[in-house]
Amino acid sequence: MFVGSWSQADFRGRSAAGAQTSAAQRRTIVPGAPNTKGHPQGWPFARSGLLLSLSLVAPLWRWSLGTCPICISGRRAISYNNRRVFIRTRPDGAPVLTDFGIEDETIADVASGQVLVKVDTLSMDAWIRTTLNDAGMHETGDLGSTIRAFGIGQVIASSDAGYAEGDWTYGMLSAQTLALIPSSQLTKVEPEPGVSPQEYIGLLGITTGLTAWVGLIAVGEVQAGDVVLVSGAAGAVGSCVVQFAKARGAHVIGIAGGAAKCAYLVDQLGADAAIDYKAGDVGAQLGALAPDGIDLFFDNVGGSILDAALDNLRPSGGARVVICGAISQYQHLDDVAGPKLYLRLAERNASMRGFVVSHHAARFTEAKKEISALIRDGKARLPEYVVSPIDKFPDALLMLFSGQHTGNLVVKP
Ligand SMILES: NC(=O)c1ccc[n+]([C@@H]2O[C@H](COP(=O)([O-])OP(=O)(O)OC[C@H]3O[C@@H](n4cnc5c(N)ncnc54)[C@H](OP(=O)(O)O)[C@@H]3O)[C@@H](O)[C@H]2O)c1
Repeated sequence: MFVGSWSQADFRGRSAAGAQTSAAQRRTIVPGAPNTKGHPQGWPFARSGLLLSLSLVAPLWRWSLGTCPICISGRRAISYNNRRVFIRTRPDGAPVLTDFGIEDETIADVASGQVLVKVDTLSMDAWIRTTLNDAGMHETGDLGSTIRAFGIGQVIASSDAGYAEGDWTYGMLSAQTLALIPSSQLTKVEPEPGVSPQEYIGLLGITTGLTAWVGLIAVGEVQAGDVVLVSGAAGAVGSCVVQFAKARGAHVIGIAGGAAKCAYLVDQLGADAAIDYKAGDVGAQLGALAPDGIDLFFDNVGGSILDAALDNLRPSGGARVVICGAISQYQHLDDVAGPKLYLRLAERNASMRGFVVSHHAARFTEAKKEISALIRDGKARLPEYVVSPIDKFPDALLMLFSGQHTGNLVVKP
């Protein structure tokens, strides 16, 4: 099995484990096979004086635990089982489960500067879909490589003085149970009082809460009294946008698929109104809910929903359209449908601007402070839709496009 490497700095968090283990150490499993779990099966051990006696009892260890800690020349040798999900074939249109492979591998060493992290929660983000293709919007993943995903986890072994066992960390942990990763690619999770580490994959997550904050506040410059429209509103980013916009005094209308999601937007998140895009003409519903037009459109979806929003921008000028994403287009990036009504921008003295959240890192401290205060005051929450274990990662990725989940779709390995 070939395991390629990532070349660009933006996505450097691939586990080194794949590169370190030989094909002979791996066992390839098709999706749906029973999970063997990725918990550590051995312990770090550093007393070289016990080498002889350990080698005598090693067979017993192997028999009872499946692995054996042995000290080699004073260097810490370990043996952990990692289970990972990789790209088997490139999808043709919408991905199918056979595009993914699942296999076990052994992690035998934590080299200097590396940290071994037990993955706790992975964020299921739409950009992951684009890495499965040859020419993606984000960087392409090689065939055989572990599928990239941001996640949080706890350190279980470290060869970096800056990380101790038990520390919570955040980074590109990828679709696996254990991530062996250079510490330079991790961020230590140090939440403010009253905020749990789990929020780093939710309201404080880079692809969730921080994306919502950056798009709404840094790019969209939301003002109190604005009429804000959000598409994909019942998803992870959208749920955050609805609540952050309400907290800033805006009048918020969410667009989502189905009556249950619309009820969630109004009853649980506090949106002023919701539009079910599956239940009729979005433009007509929008015209009725915002007769004077909208000031800010936060778009997660693109396609015909973007056109409906452009057609309803406030005619008196100053409206902003923020392009966060276009999930309706990710299955056919070689044939993206652009907005037909973009001339409304000129007619109505409006603007349209896209953004990548990581380009606004200079404002993350400010964002985290504001969001943490909302969490502490009980003014923001992001329900999780949990898929488990890691073998179900492909199913979860497909779910993003069928809209089965409400809130933040995550995988707990
Ligand atoms: N710019 C950035 O830096 C940045 C960072 C992170 C995320 N994003 C973008 O933010 C957007 C939301 O991401 P997320 O992780 O929060 O996903 P999400 O909203 O939790 O899940 C995607 C939702 O999109 C809706 N959807 C899927 N296909 C659709 C279609 N063809 N037409 C209309 N709606 C469709 C579904 O909800 P319904 O049931 O309502 O259809 C689905 O639940 C994505 O476009 C993503 O690429 C951008």
